[in-house]
Amino acid sequence: MTPTFAPVALEHASRLLNHGPTVLVTSAQGGRRNVMAAAWSMPVEFSPPRIAIVIDKRTFTRELIAASGCFGVCIPGAALADLTFAVGSCSGREGDKFARFGIAALAGPVLGVPLIEAGCAAWMECRLIPERHTEDAYDTCFAEVVAAAADARVFSSGRWDLRADNAELHTLHHLGAGNFARAADVVRARPL
Ligand SMILES: Cc1cc2nc3c(=O)[nH]c(=O)nc-3n(C[C@H](O)[C@H](O)[C@H](O)COP(=O)(O)O)c2cc1C
Repeated sequence: MTPTFAPVALEHASRLLNHGPTVLVTSAQGGRRNVMAAAWSMPVEFSPPRIAIVIDKRTFTRELIAASGCFGVCIPGAALADLTFAVGSCSGREGDKFARFGIAALAGPVLGVPLIEAGCAAWMECRLIPERHTEDAYDTCFAEVVAAAADARVFSSGRWDLRADNAELHTLHHLGAGNFARAADVVRARPL
């Protein structure tokens, strides 16, 4: 091994990969609504746009998604770090987190899921693609994105535009234990 490398405990191996944007997963069913944080998500198909996201089967969120067949993915900006950690540290079974934390929600245009725009860079409305095996065995839920919108100050023409003057909308990347990195410096690859 190169001298500057050291073994990583396997229980921490996921942290090497999981600092993609932390998202807020929103859900609702029959008058109940909820929001939780999720660091483990990824795109799996361009067209139709599909994503995968790990949502623990013990969460209230999973219960609402199983009942409704849909959910929202909202991408918090850096200014929402405290809120993101807070909604990821308590359960909606104990009470409505939107009310508790003063989160304004609007209804999604296609599925009606609760969506958060204030302080967020973007949102997606997602329809669950039922995959019993991956949901049961790996808590991994697949979904098709049926609507999406982003704050044009930070995402336009199909890509992120991270600048010093929109830092509060830069994405959050969970490093573990409530520590986040904010997406900041943009490194542009040059042809080799
Ligand atoms: C930064 C952060 C990231 C998280 N990422 C995930 C995740 O990817 N998947 C997951 O199932 N739980 C994740 N959690 C934990 C859930 O957000 C947590 O269990 C939450 O309390 C569930 O809420 P609910 O019971 O209201 O659905 C994360 C928590 C934090 C703080």
